Amino acid sequence: MPAIVLIGAQWGDEGKGKATDLLGSRVDYVVKFNGGNNAGHTVVVGDKKYALHLLPSGILTPGVTPVIANGVVVDVEVLFHELEALGSRGVDVSRLLVSANAHVITAYHRTIDKVTERFLGKRQIGTTGRGIGPAYADKINRVGIRIQDLFDEGILRQKVEAALDLKNHILLKVYNRRSIAADEVIDDLLSYTERLRPMVADTSLVLNRALDEGKTVLFEGGQATMLDVDHGTYPFVTSSNATSGGAATGSGVAPNRIDRVIAVVKAYTTRVGAGPFPTELFDESGEFLRSQGFEFGTTTGRPRRTGWYDAPVARYTARINGVTDFVLTKLDVLTGLPTIPVCVAYDVDGVRVDEVPVSQSDFHHAKPIYETFEGWSEDITGARTFSDLPPAAQRYVLAVEEMSGSRISAIGVGPSRDAIISRHDLLE
Ligand code: GDP
Ligand code: IMO
Ligand code: MG
Repeated sequence: MPAIVLIGAQWGDEGKGKATDLLGSRVDYVVKFNGGNNAGHTVVVGDKKYALHLLPSGILTPGVTPVIANGVVVDVEVLFHELEALGSRGVDVSRLLVSANAHVITAYHRTIDKVTERFLGKRQIGTTGRGIGPAYADKINRVGIRIQDLFDEGILRQKVEAALDLKNHILLKVYNRRSIAADEVIDDLLSYTERLRPMVADTSLVLNRALDEGKTVLFEGGQATMLDVDHGTYPFVTSSNATSGGAATGSGVAPNRIDRVIAVVKAYTTRVGAGPFPTELFDESGEFLRSQGFEFGTTTGRPRRTGWYDAPVARYTARINGVTDFVLTKLDVLTGLPTIPVCVAYDVDGVRVDEVPVSQSDFHHAKPIYETFEGWSEDITGARTFSDLPPAAQRYVLAVEEMSGSRISAIGVGPSRDAIISRHDLLE
């Protein structure tokens, strides 16, 4: 089964890193196709814990070729920092390939991200401050800098100067900040070119050839469906396509080559940053999920907002992405709750709505309609087959599966690599 897309089903942090790691040795290439170092994936291998941001989680599997494809925005400083950190822990990072067409995050993108958020005040999105939005804005505005530009100083200079021309006016006159010197940005970028050179490739060609040879390619999405710039809760989204379609545009591998779409979904819901979240909890249940699930951002350390499972969101994800399998994570976090509510539909201004409303204001007003399931108190972290789960936990999984539009093929019961119940082979 050669091309598999793995994406987040909710608002991120579903455990995509762990799910990727799970497929590990069966995969030849692991491709990051969207986002940048706004992502934060925690992967626990034995007694070691890894936090990955820009690099795909698959880099932890020996023998896999990690790829940063064209759809990614690359902060080159962060790239080398992460590579060094992993290298010093004995992870082989020598195979990494970076697309010549990927865009670069520069100092001015990071600055603009932070000042615009501050300027927005109460209306801020709560971005990760990594320069993601401004870098994608420049890409769409056709004033972006690409990895390949780092190998031609003349072109790099022209492009950086052109990009800074307008930005410095804005920084000075609108935001009352100091302007940014083109030379500083250029010198900084050029300092990485020699180390970058051996990694840079036509990654679309590499990946298509690999597929021709029957190799297995895993496309690892950053962020998630509800943070997708087209299909998420706009404007409270990230600036890339985190949905399965993004794997095609973000890598140069055609949609008809994709065989499976795996969506990672938490057994409850979390969100970092602002924006609608119908099942959000503000009581002790929300606190319970946050402390039991250790729901604090991998990238920014912010406490994550927490809430119950939202089945219309899962169905929406199944539809938008063409999900073939769900991986349901963090079921163990629900252990100890006497009852567990699941949102089955919404009440929008007195009307029952079964699907995610197309209108953003309706989604803001949507009040969850809950069906409540019996909880369990037994420790499930040692469960390795579905029948190891207590009957109430089995009923919860089956009910959620029934409502979510695709089968649940694996169930996470703990942070470690082996804490997983497999129900169906994810690659077949
Ligand atoms: P990602 O951004 O989707 O890769 O997810 P994050 O790494 O940001 O957040 C998921 C967190 O949950 C990580 O700390 C994982 O180690 C942890 N995790 C993943 N699966 C499970 C699970 O089944 N049970 C528990 N308790 N933790 C899990
Ligand atoms: P992973 O891959 C959760 C959120 C930010 C903010 C919005 C826009 O770990 O699931 P950005 O910096 O991207 O412009 O911020 O998106 N966000 C994430 N939330 N997990 C992530 O990645 C996220 N990446 C961005 O909190 O609300
Ligand atoms: Mg994360």
